[in-house]
Amino acid sequence: MASATVYRKDYIPPTHWVDSVHLEFDLHPQQTHVHSTLIIRPNEDRINNDLVLNGRDLELVRIVMDGRELDRTEYTLMPNGDIVLRGITKEIKLEIENIINPQANTSLMGLYLSKGNFMTQCEAEGFRRITYYPDRPDISAKFTVRINAPKSVCPVLLSNGNLVEEGELDGNWHYTCWEDPFPKPSYLFALVAGNLKCREEKFQLKNGKKALLQIWVEPQNLDKTEFALESLKRAIAWDEERFGLELDLERFMIVATDDFTMGAMENKGLNIFNSRCVLATPEVATDRDFARIESVIGHEYFHNWTGNRVTCRDWFQLTLKEGLTVFREQEFAADMLGDSTARAVKRIEDVRYLRDRQFTEDAGPMAHPIRPESYEEINNFYTTTVYEKGAEVIRMLQTLLGKDGFKRGLEQYIRDHDGSSATCEDFLNAMAEANMRNLSQFTRWYSQAGTPHVRVRTHWDERSATYTITLSQFCPPTPGQTKKEPFFIPFDVALFNSKGKPIALQLQAETNAKGTSRVLELTDEEHSWVFVGVKEKPIPSLARNFSAPIIVDYNYSPEELVFLSQCDNDAFNRAHAMEELSLLCINEMVSDYERGTRMVINPHYRNAFESMLTDKSISPAFKAIALTLPSETRIAEAQPMINPISIRAAIRSLREQLGRQFSHLIMRVFDDNAPNPVYSPNAADAGKRAMRAFCFELLLAGGNAKSLLRARQIFETSKNLTERLDALRIIVNSASPTKFTLLEAAETEWRNEPLLINKWFTLQATATVPMDECPIVDVVQNLVERYPGYNAHNPNNVYSLVLAFCQNNLAEFHRPDGVGYKFWVEQVLKLDRINPQVSSRLARCLDGWRRYTPECSKLMFSALKYVYSQPNLSTDLKEVVGKALN
Ligand code: PHE
Ligand code: ZN
Repeated sequence: MASATVYRKDYIPPTHWVDSVHLEFDLHPQQTHVHSTLIIRPNEDRINNDLVLNGRDLELVRIVMDGRELDRTEYTLMPNGDIVLRGITKEIKLEIENIINPQANTSLMGLYLSKGNFMTQCEAEGFRRITYYPDRPDISAKFTVRINAPKSVCPVLLSNGNLVEEGELDGNWHYTCWEDPFPKPSYLFALVAGNLKCREEKFQLKNGKKALLQIWVEPQNLDKTEFALESLKRAIAWDEERFGLELDLERFMIVATDDFTMGAMENKGLNIFNSRCVLATPEVATDRDFARIESVIGHEYFHNWTGNRVTCRDWFQLTLKEGLTVFREQEFAADMLGDSTARAVKRIEDVRYLRDRQFTEDAGPMAHPIRPESYEEINNFYTTTVYEKGAEVIRMLQTLLGKDGFKRGLEQYIRDHDGSSATCEDFLNAMAEANMRNLSQFTRWYSQAGTPHVRVRTHWDERSATYTITLSQFCPPTPGQTKKEPFFIPFDVALFNSKGKPIALQLQAETNAKGTSRVLELTDEEHSWVFVGVKEKPIPSLARNFSAPIIVDYNYSPEELVFLSQCDNDAFNRAHAMEELSLLCINEMVSDYERGTRMVINPHYRNAFESMLTDKSISPAFKAIALTLPSETRIAEAQPMINPISIRAAIRSLREQLGRQFSHLIMRVFDDNAPNPVYSPNAADAGKRAMRAFCFELLLAGGNAKSLLRARQIFETSKNLTERLDALRIIVNSASPTKFTLLEAAETEWRNEPLLINKWFTLQATATVPMDECPIVDVVQNLVERYPGYNAHNPNNVYSLVLAFCQNNLAEFHRPDGVGYKFWVEQVLKLDRINPQVSSRLARCLDGWRRYTPECSKLMFSALKYVYSQPNLSTDLKEVVGKALN
């Protein structure tokens, strides 16, 4: 099918509004009957009165308009499945009956089955797979729902809003009726039916009311829901406290399913979650999983205001709800951590994720502004650009307006748009008005793609005791955008004296010094700031706390980086200096390797490493994150031409040398970081475990034989998954043949727990050394083809095995013989038949083909071309591969 491009500039308001919709379902695995009753009225502002009802893969039974059944000549069935009713000039009542087949639905959009339970997913355009409807976010309607189903298979029947009626039916069937008090667009509709159990609690709201909170799961998972419920309560209280936003429902439900393409979905009052983002006990979830669950619970809950009460006018505005909600989620997670270094650790993790994934996206063929101008398939635009860069753009607003000013702006935005659909301009206007600021230049963050570089030049003048900072910005071209206008960049700086103390800052035009850090506002291509009273040459700390999503170009000397890694009072930049040093060192080692000379550790890095390792004044969590070596993706980003094999060789040698040279020290640090024997996922204990895992990895790399025994012992005796998985990973990545015994033991123990078997997949998919000389691609292929617990229809299985391999195991995936790419082609094509969102996500692993060594690059290009030449590709896959080739 030829895919049509949709453009933002083509937006037209709807021809008709829907006042109310009543849906009635007779649930059946292959033949679900849907009966919908719509009250529809024309939009007086539009001259066109042809009503388009979207529909996909539906079997139409009948359409009844104002009590009269229409015959085939009275409506048009379009080739894409939509229905057009012409000349609807007054209010009508429309009744539509259709049949759908949930069992045959492998796309996981619309109504589908997950382990026998009925689930829905409607964002972005899934509602049209349930019934005929004007399926667009700028149409909101009041929903009532009745669900009829056999009692034995579906004891639980849920939909949005409040339960208003339930009862028995003939033939052992029963029903429930639901009424959602808030009008909503179709993408927020949800229905869940099946054999589920819930943990529930009546929770006291600040306004005096109580709300019923429920977490619904398969019966065997009930004992894994406590943490999610506690997180939900914290999220509710936080939004009341921080933004004055209250829960507007009597009942708020979360449902877990194993079969879900994304993380979770914010359906009004009935959130549906991928089970990996809800279920947790110390035995099945790692420290990171716990943190992730709290964040995602918060995220979906916060959508209730930023997304649901105020929604998006069209899908180009996606970042309006997603960027803002990711930002709110990040602030929530940070506030739950409390102290400033713990917050910094979280910030470092978030920024590393952004740099690894979003910077790469922005530098590749799919680069797009946080608000795209066009798309072929909207599902391809749930990206790290829209989400994570979108959140950075919101964060810059908070940096510029201050916390209070930002809060005022958000209040105004919600006041102005509550109950309606909005655009990114609406949001910026509210922010600007509430703060009496002109933000027009700031809108460029919404329209220009690419990661800006800010070049920094500094000059200290001894005689006048002035220090000049000159910032100039440049943004590389991206597809369709060669020339960029200057961005509005908040650039936070501090200056340190030789004793490591921040100096008081006074600009030339100011009468006295204020504060020791300053947010410079770069709006021109280039601008200089002159600080006065600077009596010695300072060392600058730049773009502190990652004050903008940019790349800073400044020629620090290694000595200055060592200094900042020890003295910067911005914990983010302190870790950043460490990272820069490690990158410097690794890059040198990569060159050594490629020249065939001995790989040597840069002495400055070595010193900084040692001093941080032994620094007693910093928390283990911070130490662990600051010392962790940069990811291979991050190293690759900084290379002019990517050779994953040299990168891996350099990292391996670095670990080995560090492990050998500092073995005594590392052993001591390991012993000093014994976590509390009673497991808790709190940040302090998690930090100790992370520090220990880091030590372990180096010790084993350095050839310390005892550490292997110790790791094995931890895997076999520890009760928490974090330690067990860290131990097992370290063994799997070593040369020790014990790994086979332990992987087998893990399989026996984990095979009935999907969360764990997915971890087991990932361990093998991301293994950094071949298994018994068998390349990892063969290990992965073997699991895909022969392991009975792998199911290509289950996105989590695909992500944790196939995607984990292609995306995160660079050296094994990009083997110069091309076996990795061959595997990729097979998988992409096979998965495209099942779930296009999954195949197009996997397809993106070859986005960067231009940047690899010539031999890899050529093979990647032919793999892409081959896929593109195949018939009947999904629009999702076609767009991604087409753009990669362009
Ligand atoms: N809107 C969801 C979120 O970010 C993500 C999602 C999109 C889920 C599309 C399913 C389908 O919270
Ligand atoms: Zn979201």
